Amino acid sequence: MNVEERYIADVDRLIPRPDIALDVLCLAQDSSSSVAELAKKIEQDPNMTANMLRMANSSYFGHMKEIASLQDIIVRLGLDMVKILAITSASAGILTSPQEAYDLEPRALWNHSHACSILAEIIARYAKLENHYTVYTAALLHDIGKVVLNKPLLAACAVRKTDKKFSSLLELERFMLQTDHARVGAALLAAWGLPDSITIPVARHHSAGGLKPNRLDVKIVSLANFLVESIGIRSLMPADFHFNVDEFLRQNQGSPEVSSFSANMASIMEEFFNRFSGTDMILA
Ligand SMILES: [Fe+2]
Ligand SMILES: [Fe+2]
Repeated sequence: MNVEERYIADVDRLIPRPDIALDVLCLAQDSSSSVAELAKKIEQDPNMTANMLRMANSSYFGHMKEIASLQDIIVRLGLDMVKILAITSASAGILTSPQEAYDLEPRALWNHSHACSILAEIIARYAKLENHYTVYTAALLHDIGKVVLNKPLLAACAVRKTDKKFSSLLELERFMLQTDHARVGAALLAAWGLPDSITIPVARHHSAGGLKPNRLDVKIVSLANFLVESIGIRSLMPADFHFNVDEFLRQNQGSPEVSSFSANMASIMEEFFNRFSGTDMILA
């Protein structure tokens, strides 16, 4: 058993596997499954059903006509959107608790993760990447390892006092726990049966360079994480968000991963701020 497997070995009590959401992802992937089958699966979880309807009717989607049923969601918004709504709803339950070892108050990790997923999906679309849904999911779950490591990290820091200065959170995690939240998160998602297209961006969200072949999806998730951190979404109210597009472009001039969408950075950030500030009701 490697270090990551050890940390996720008895994680079930802490983070129950989101069975229904994962089944929904599988069913929506399978071209032979029907709309009725999919709706039946989602209805097994009344919370998820209510969440999905609330999200589908939010300003985020801007629909004029009310979406009244799951069938409506599936038919009018399409399968990719069903997958996004299902995994978002399941993740909201997992990511809202406080993570004391990381100084994250209730909802802070959720706000950060959800902001990342919206931004990553928009960038993926502008960069003409095919699988927006996968990038969205990876960005949504990129820090799930923090939920696994919160307690072990608290305990380790209490026992092992040190004056050592850590240049990053990852360095602290590796020193105390011999692994980090990116690796543990990816191991958990792999154990839940999620594919490489999701686990690799999660594993590499703090170290997107040097991958062969070059992976734009990994870079987008990593960039979305960095941008959301720099805007300060964890603690600010939407009205206080600021992002200086010119400054960003100046700093990233010539960076190959940014060149595919940099010309649209102003539109990307505008769409992001509009969509993100319209999603507060998801946890209502
Ligand atoms: Fe992270
Ligand atoms: Fe993050």
